[in-house]
Amino acid sequence: MSLVLDDAVESFLAAANPDPSPLLDEMAAHGDARDFPTVGPDAGQFLRFVATVARADRIFEFGSGFGYSAAWFLGALPDDGEIVLTDYDSENLAEAREFLARVDGDTEIHYEAGDAFDAFESHDGPFDVVFLDHDKERYAEAFDRVVADLAPGGVVVADNMMAGPVETEDVTAALAGDDPANDATAGVAEYVERVRDHPDFETSFVPLGEGLAVSTRKRTAGE
Ligand SMILES: C[S@@+](CC[C@H](N)C(=O)[O-])C[C@H]1O[C@@H](n2cnc3c(N)ncnc32)[C@H](O)[C@@H]1O
Repeated sequence: MSLVLDDAVESFLAAANPDPSPLLDEMAAHGDARDFPTVGPDAGQFLRFVATVARADRIFEFGSGFGYSAAWFLGALPDDGEIVLTDYDSENLAEAREFLARVDGDTEIHYEAGDAFDAFESHDGPFDVVFLDHDKERYAEAFDRVVADLAPGGVVVADNMMAGPVETEDVTAALAGDDPANDATAGVAEYVERVRDHPDFETSFVPLGEGLAVSTRKRTAGE
């Protein structure tokens, strides 16, 4: 069940979206059994759409867990594409490796255990899509770091703008100037302001899953 949308819209999305693959269903059930937060199918479908319209060849994830969001992205990547998964927890990535081995195709998949910021340093840009789903307190720091390694027209997508470790009302209040309810809220509000105010990016907030920020790097003349 969505934490952001009402039941009628959620039912519409369940009826209108294509059924996820059996692997994605199995991974979703695994997440539920582990009580592990994934983006869920509605946001996953949208992530795949973003990668498709961005014609992404290279994707980097900050915070991959056991690979659910990456499984959605893989559906949009070509055989000569590449995706980098990161997670503090190497056991999460071991599960990701097992699940993603079952995805057809030859897309290169990197599994980087440890701090995603360190992993980002060890992979040359540019990336077409960067997905942020790590500690909310470090979202703005991640955005600042990845901007220089984003392809023209590239996209940064961030999860949990409206739910999960934050409440929608709390983020709204923080954006209005109230003291943030907690560190995650402070991090998300800081991120919203960062991407909204960046002159080189166009950002939309999409209330799917737990709320996504989609920030596209504007093309400059000649790009
Ligand atoms: C919400 S889960 C990711 C879920 C995944 N994107 C999905 O939808 O399937 C967040 C994960 O980020 C990891 N994490 C948080 N901060 C991190 C960092 N700085 N570097 C690497 N992993 C991080 C946590 O270990 C956790 O597994």
